[in-house]
Amino acid sequence: MKTKISKQKGSPWQLIYATSLPIMIFIIALVSCTKDQATTPTPETPNESITTANVSFSNFARQLFQSKCSSCHSVGSSASAKWTYTDLQSIRDHKARIQNAVLVAQTMPLGGTISDKEKELLAAWFERNMPEN
Ligand code: HEC
Repeated sequence: MKTKISKQKGSPWQLIYATSLPIMIFIIALVSCTKDQATTPTPETPNESITTANVSFSNFARQLFQSKCSSCHSVGSSASAKWTYTDLQSIRDHKARIQNAVLVAQTMPLGGTISDKEKELLAAWFERNMPEN
């Protein structure tokens, strides 16, 4: 007499393993892709610990001028005749024009973007008389 024992040959664990393995591989692939993306630089947003009350050149403005302005306004670059960014002093020397270009006329950064938060912090930094630290 033939019984259908053969049906029970595979343990339930084999079934679970067989179905979950492709899912596991998929998840691992997904996670590693996400990790790859995480290593690519994201657009810099000011750290939340920087506020209008403690904003300084070293914690905020240096990075802003370097990333948003120096590509055109550094020695030998296209817009260096208008204003050359070298250091804090070069900003202090041109405070009014920079303030106007970025915060009033809003013609700068040319072709780039500056967020409302960055403008708020920059305005506060000017108001605080451009402290280095
Ligand atoms: C893509 C290039 C580019 C970037 C980035 C850029 N600028 Fe300019 N900037 C220019 C050019 C070109 C001019 C001259 C515009 C003109 O004469 O109308 C200029 C002019 C200026 C001027 C002179 C305005 C005046 O009074 O005549 C200031 C100040 C200035 N930029 C500040 C900045 C600041 C601050 C940043 C960064 C937040 C910045 N720029 C980013 C290209 C750039």
